[in-house]
Amino acid sequence: MERKFRIICFGTQPYDRESFDRNNTYDNLTIDYHTSHLNARNVALAEGADAVCVFVNDTVDAETIEGLAAHGVKLIALRCAGFNNVDLQAAERCGIPVVRVPAYSPHAVAEHAVALMLALNRKVHRAYWRTRDGNFALHGLLGFDMYGKTAGIVGTGKIARALIGILRGFGMEILAYDLYPDEEYARAAGIRYVTLDELYRNSDIISLHCPLTDATRYMIDEDAISKMKRGVIIINTGRGQLIRSEALIEGLKNKTVGAAGLDVYEEEAAYFYEDTSDRVMDDDMLARLLSFNNVIITSHQGFFTREALDNIARTTLDNVEVFARSGELRNRVCCDRK
Ligand code: NAI
Repeated sequence: MERKFRIICFGTQPYDRESFDRNNTYDNLTIDYHTSHLNARNVALAEGADAVCVFVNDTVDAETIEGLAAHGVKLIALRCAGFNNVDLQAAERCGIPVVRVPAYSPHAVAEHAVALMLALNRKVHRAYWRTRDGNFALHGLLGFDMYGKTAGIVGTGKIARALIGILRGFGMEILAYDLYPDEEYARAAGIRYVTLDELYRNSDIISLHCPLTDATRYMIDEDAISKMKRGVIIINTGRGQLIRSEALIEGLKNKTVGAAGLDVYEEEAAYFYEDTSDRVMDDDMLARLLSFNNVIITSHQGFFTREALDNIARTTLDNVEVFARSGELRNRVCCDRK
């Protein structure tokens, strides 16, 4: 019998296993699962793998990649779009190609960003607890009409475009910033590209949809927040390190920032996707953020819809299968993309 191409998936949850097993229609692929995140210390778990499959909180740095190479791993398959957690240069040096799922459901993430905006604006998270406790008072729950307000969108790729469609439906004005502005799209969508400073100055809601790169790391810092409208709502479904958390905390304390919806957090790897409710929280910054009644933190769940999970599993398995069969690199991430 022909030997099957073996994938070892790291950082998996029961829902990953379920969607990958359900979508693995290929006879030549076999999948094993680990719950632990891949890193340099546990890279030995990749022994016997032809491909490793990783997600946003696996640490695929140079040391890990050298370990993967030593164990004969031939492919790194990301089951996500972002690839900031992979040292692409090291992967190239070690001759291990990297593939990803460039788009699985931009709607899933865009709709989650809208859920955060609306919940924060209309204080749904606070109203939920009040009414359960027999408190039907409205004080402190005052919101604003989205209609006619201005949203500043940083990055105008797939997710941002899905979001812009929804926000235009609310009757919002859109100011956008992108390293590579697409004027034709802007005309068609009825939005305006501006400088980051203009976007900060004029937006009632700011939502981040650019990748994490050296240029965007901590782009929302003290200086950026100082330029923003008082009471701005900041939404981050991009990557945690787009925001310097200390600066956000200060902005919330001095009321420049009216509310923040965070689906990602710069030190999320230690907490997100795990039930840590029986432990004392030792991350003071996360604890402080969670203490604000105008901050909602979700656990990197923007992608978490049925449709997206199926698309992730199918595209990842297609990426691996075509590589196993023919060596073709579909959805490859190249070094110069960083
Ligand atoms: P995309 O690649 O379609 O769009 C990214 C856009 O950002 C592009 O238009 C690009 O030109 C722009 N960009 C690049 N560098 C920039 C810079 N320095 N300043 C401003 N814009 C810049 O990506 P997509 O699919 O829209 O995803 C965006 C990000 O969302 C991903 O990189 C990932 O980090 C995050 N994401 C979060 C998820 C979640 O579950 N919360 C799920 C999927 C993605």
